Amino acid sequence: MSAGQTWRVLLSPPEVGDVERELLLGAFDSNWVAPAGPDIDAFEAELAELTGAGAVAALSSGTAALHLALMAVGVGAGDDVLVSTLTFGASAFAITYLGARPCFVDCDPDTWHLDPDLLDEELTRRDRAGTRPAAVVSVDLYGSVADGERIAAVCAAHDVVLVQDAAESIGASRNGVASGRQGRVSILSFNGNKMVTTGGGGAIMSDDVSLVSHARYLSTQARQPVPWYEHADIGFNYRMGNLNAAVGRGQLRTLDERIAGRRAVRETYERVLGAVEGIRFQQIPEGCAPNHWLTTVMFDPERFAGRPAAVLDALRSVGIEARHAFKPMHLQPVFAGAPVVGGAVAAEHFERGLSLPSGSRLDLEVVEEIGERILACATTETRSA
Ligand SMILES: Cc1ncc(COP(=O)(O)O)c(C=O)c1O
Repeated sequence: MSAGQTWRVLLSPPEVGDVERELLLGAFDSNWVAPAGPDIDAFEAELAELTGAGAVAALSSGTAALHLALMAVGVGAGDDVLVSTLTFGASAFAITYLGARPCFVDCDPDTWHLDPDLLDEELTRRDRAGTRPAAVVSVDLYGSVADGERIAAVCAAHDVVLVQDAAESIGASRNGVASGRQGRVSILSFNGNKMVTTGGGGAIMSDDVSLVSHARYLSTQARQPVPWYEHADIGFNYRMGNLNAAVGRGQLRTLDERIAGRRAVRETYERVLGAVEGIRFQQIPEGCAPNHWLTTVMFDPERFAGRPAAVLDALRSVGIEARHAFKPMHLQPVFAGAPVVGGAVAAEHFERGLSLPSGSRLDLEVVEEIGERILACATTETRSA
């Protein structure tokens, strides 16, 4: 199946319905068709309630939110910022927007999150060398939640500020604490493929209310509160639109259902594939309640010849969209030559990993079928295991 063809099963489609539609039309009819309006204010308040954050500003994308978050913690030209190498490009791109340099750190082999021990070692090395980074960016991957408590403690011990990229993990928590709540500042994404979509959008959140207010001010072209256009700072056009916020409000009301749907999808994959030798799922740490955004598995090369490309092709040939796991940033051509601490774990993840269709409305019989098709790609030895 080639690009442009219709998929029978999508990887992670937007899931909207009557609630979103009603709120969207209400916003439209109110004529708040602008990057200002009551739905933006309400969406921000509802996000703060969901996450427990002191303040939230709704923005045009998660990438914009990262840009403003890094700026807010003082990252600037010539700085180094440590960031998990296993992530989507935006986590690292935003660092470069400020003229800073991303320095990549490897992940834990079971959870695929930033490895706190490696982070500690690197920060200790940098303390001695006098090359302390301006910030650390940790990422909650595929809807799971990193050990933010431990990562925050490591950062605090080295006096480095923590920024959390929770783009993929809204609604997820660890030990009862929402994703993104241990850092000084964190971000969410409402891209079309995320658990909460606004048709494109993001948010910055923090307990520091003035930090968020300043980000909101910068996101609306840094307009001074006077009756003419007066600017004391360089601004950005990063604010979320009111129609988008209305859709987001509907998505928050139905988030629990989508999480339950995606959990059922993961459990079905686990039932079919969990006991198969040569297939490994992302490990869910004790106390972690993921949102199950993307079920991602790794294939043992000895048991799955030609993995994961062969599996990907087998699924694609029947209209089922799967995707290679994230390719780490230190292997991306655009970051060639950037510093990296470790990197082998993330490289192996890319080499062996595949994200499987995970939508909450996916028929569980289809999930079983996908599992069976994956099993059919295994070597004989694995099939009889
Ligand atoms: C980990 C991560 N960070 C940042 C982003 C960027 O968010 P957005 O697409 O809303 O700019 C995404 C996804 O798109 C992501 O997966």
